[in-house]
Amino acid sequence: HGPVIAVDGPAAAGKGTLAKKLAQELGLPYLDTGLLYRAVARLALDAGQDPSGPAENFAEHLTQQDMARKDLRTPDVAQAASKVAAQPAVRQALVETQRRFAAERGAVLDGRDIGTAIFPNADVKLFITASPATRALRRYMQMQGNPAAPDAGEKLAEMEATLKARDAADSSRAAAPLQVAADAKVIETDHLSAEAVLALALAYTRE
Ligand code: CDP
Repeated sequence: HGPVIAVDGPAAAGKGTLAKKLAQELGLPYLDTGLLYRAVARLALDAGQDPSGPAENFAEHLTQQDMARKDLRTPDVAQAASKVAAQPAVRQALVETQRRFAAERGAVLDGRDIGTAIFPNADVKLFITASPATRALRRYMQMQGNPAAPDAGEKLAEMEATLKARDAADSSRAAAPLQVAADAKVIETDHLSAEAVLALALAYTRE
């Protein structure tokens, strides 16, 4: 089979941007695994359910359509995704989907536990990170775009607090917590452009 490249890291670190370009560059399929958990969370919320309550039923019956919904990238869904993702039964229900995705041609997958739990034998493991302030600014730019706006300071601080809380939850849960795989290459992206991150990742991939 083809190579498997695991891209893990905390919220809004630029995993998606990197993983997508890396996949393009290497001619591999790309999977944003966060979307799996976001889609499960969306279904739980739509059913009027507390996302901390049992959600494996939604994970077991997830469809392509659920994953393609346009309303998965909101802050509310991110929070709820972190809650359903803490449930071992939800994670278990999504393991095979992720492994099957890479079975034929290999793949680049981004998430939290790709190098530690889903593909412990991945050919390349990258851990992409940045300070909470940098990540909050990146997410802010993605969502609204003007850090000079009069109310930006408050919103940025709020976003940083929310990201930190979600990372703390993702890192402290018992089921496949966010952590750096022993054999991962860590890329600290605070002072790197997207192009520089890609160049580093490609260099590690070709090592
Ligand atoms: O884009 P962002 O980094 O904000 O979030 P995401 O990658 O879409 O992930 C949303 C949530 O799903 C995370 O906070 C994790 O709790 C969970 N997740 C996970 O547990 N395992 C993965 N492989 C991917 C996401």
